[in-house]
Amino acid sequence: MIVCKTKSDLRRHLETLGTNPFIGFVPTMGALHKGHLSLVRQAKRENEISVVSIFVNPIQFDNADDLVKYPRNIDDDLPLLERVHCDVVFIPNEQEIYPTPPTETYDFGELEEVMEGQYRKGHFNGVATVVKRLFDIVKPSTAYFGEKDFQQLTIIRKLVENEHLPVEIVACPIVRESDGLAMSSRNVRLSVEDRRIAPQIHKILRDARDLVGIFEPDKLKGFVIDQLKHIPRTKLDYFEIVDSKTLRPIQQWQASSRSIGCVAIYLSDVRLIDNVKF
Ligand code: PAJ
Repeated sequence: MIVCKTKSDLRRHLETLGTNPFIGFVPTMGALHKGHLSLVRQAKRENEISVVSIFVNPIQFDNADDLVKYPRNIDDDLPLLERVHCDVVFIPNEQEIYPTPPTETYDFGELEEVMEGQYRKGHFNGVATVVKRLFDIVKPSTAYFGEKDFQQLTIIRKLVENEHLPVEIVACPIVRESDGLAMSSRNVRLSVEDRRIAPQIHKILRDARDLVGIFEPDKLKGFVIDQLKHIPRTKLDYFEIVDSKTLRPIQQWQASSRSIGCVAIYLSDVRLIDNVKF
């Protein structure tokens, strides 16, 4: 596994690997877990070369405290990537990605106005800015994103469409702990007690699936919100049932898997997101 810290180093290395090899790319912010590794495995399986980037992107954090507390664990990350036979890791510093302050502004219309967009102003512009810059550096044929960040995945697809980027976006399923909690780099910040109750979030969403078609979407939404609010030490940002393409809240049930229930909730001071297809 080759570790590159600069753009020029990365380009030089990739160019020694043949003319236009299929490159599968997994952008991450590190503190890697099995969710990230499933994306890397898929990238490795489907391409000639797998590239993973690790960069905690300051401009996508709307909350300074969240940026400071974001787990950084490069000494653990590298052996994990070795273990899944990742070919190239790109670990740029801030200067490398943002030699001058970034000024890009992207317009994703309604897609960025709902859910995360309402609670994390500027977040998706920061995500799109870094992902576009990373695509320009790595030049992947395919890039892999997790469905855990469902709205992010939708925004990245829109970015690729709007900017006519020559990259295929592949969506990868959510990887969960055995008790159902969606894996997340932020889970390490949960107290023992909060970690114990955190799986209730997924359980409530999963149980809600059985009520699809019995309750109208609005009624189901109210029912889920009520249950989420009963989990101790939580503060709900949102729970929405939306169309998985437009991210617009739905009034009527649609064909199977077209609707998705998305949640963002604080457990003490740790913000968790999750979703389930209805
Ligand atoms: P990060 O949170 O590190 O996630 C990197 C990728 O791993 C994302 O595509 C995310 O959806 C995926 N992922 C995280 N947890 C997952 C899980 N439990 N199951 C499946 N996939 C999971 O998302 C980001 O970083 C950043 O916003 C980034 C795209 C790198 C831009 O800075």
